[in-house]
Amino acid sequence: MRIGKLYIERPVILAPMEDVTDRSFRKICKKFGADIVYTEFVSAEALRRGVEKSLQKMLFEEYERPAVIQIFGNSEEAMAEAAAIAETYSPNYLDINFGCPAKKVADKGAGAALLREPEKMTRIVASVVKAVSIPVTVKTRIGWDRDSINILDIIPRLEDAGIEAIAVHGRTRSEMYKGTADWNWIARVKEHAKIPVIANGDIWSAQDALAMFDHTGADGIMIGRGSIGNPFIFRQVKELLQHGAVTTFPDFRDRIAVAIEHLRCSVEFKGEKYGTLEMRRHYATYLKGLPRVSRVRDKLVREDNWRDVIEILGEYEIECEHYAREGKIKEYAEYLNDHSRRLVLK
Ligand SMILES: Cc1cc2nc3c(=O)[nH]c(=O)nc-3n(C[C@H](O)[C@H](O)[C@H](O)COP(=O)(O)O)c2cc1C
Repeated sequence: MRIGKLYIERPVILAPMEDVTDRSFRKICKKFGADIVYTEFVSAEALRRGVEKSLQKMLFEEYERPAVIQIFGNSEEAMAEAAAIAETYSPNYLDINFGCPAKKVADKGAGAALLREPEKMTRIVASVVKAVSIPVTVKTRIGWDRDSINILDIIPRLEDAGIEAIAVHGRTRSEMYKGTADWNWIARVKEHAKIPVIANGDIWSAQDALAMFDHTGADGIMIGRGSIGNPFIFRQVKELLQHGAVTTFPDFRDRIAVAIEHLRCSVEFKGEKYGTLEMRRHYATYLKGLPRVSRVRDKLVREDNWRDVIEILGEYEIECEHYAREGKIKEYAEYLNDHSRRLVLK
């Protein structure tokens, strides 16, 4: 896949996720092989006003490259201004969010709301492309609702306006995250687009990733929720793509070790207080499926001191050693199979 000067064969990309893909999570995903990482989306209006928290979201480390900043907004002027600010942070390229279904975004005419205004969407893209000298891409959904799927109409407009790739989540805005992503529509997008297509939606396992490439013919794939608590997925996808089989199956020790590493990064980047607080949302997914976990989870999300969190996780690991000897721990492959969607592919 080529975007400007960047060339990566069949890239496996970490999707932008608000409150998830901060520097600490990106560092972990990068370590496990994510080829490209995106920041959380950043509000154009907030950038214009110089809101510190939004400016912070655009910071990334050199080892994260290729790294992408994603912005969202509802006006050409604000988006052009925000794009120019974002460019000063030197991302490899800049992405525009036209897919966010959340009320707080769509009700203000930004994110997925622009799927109902293709002309305005095109003007926003043109103004952003004009404002920066780095490549500009778009991430969007297939339409507003099932009765108005318009992605095939939108693509040539955005291509003419100058975008260099498009990431498509195979759902409409109305579907939010319900049901399963429609990979058939992504395949149609790939047939019609002249620019590279990045396929997104419901990749929960390495097998799903391969199925997504095969089913859609996309140039790259993007993984969101399937990486939360499971950054190992990037390494597994690489193994499957490069060697034809997944060879590493992290066990509970690996999962607990990565949760601890993630916490340490979070504290490093956000300080003891916020780093510990913001990690709370991750424990449930790292420990998912392990025996008698709810008691531990409850303790972890009440703990303010990160060193005590590490101690609790260490004690739980010892407890898990006992469960493992008693054969009470589900195999990781089995846990993934519960999630995999390749079986429901039509
Ligand atoms: C918690 C969360 C936050 C998200 N934040 C963003 C965002 O900031 N920008 C964006 O383009 N998409 C965002 N998304 C959508 C994802 O990037 C992705 O398109 C969607 O989750 C479908 O992919 P998946 O099935 O692999 O999760 C978010 C999704 C989740 C679950």
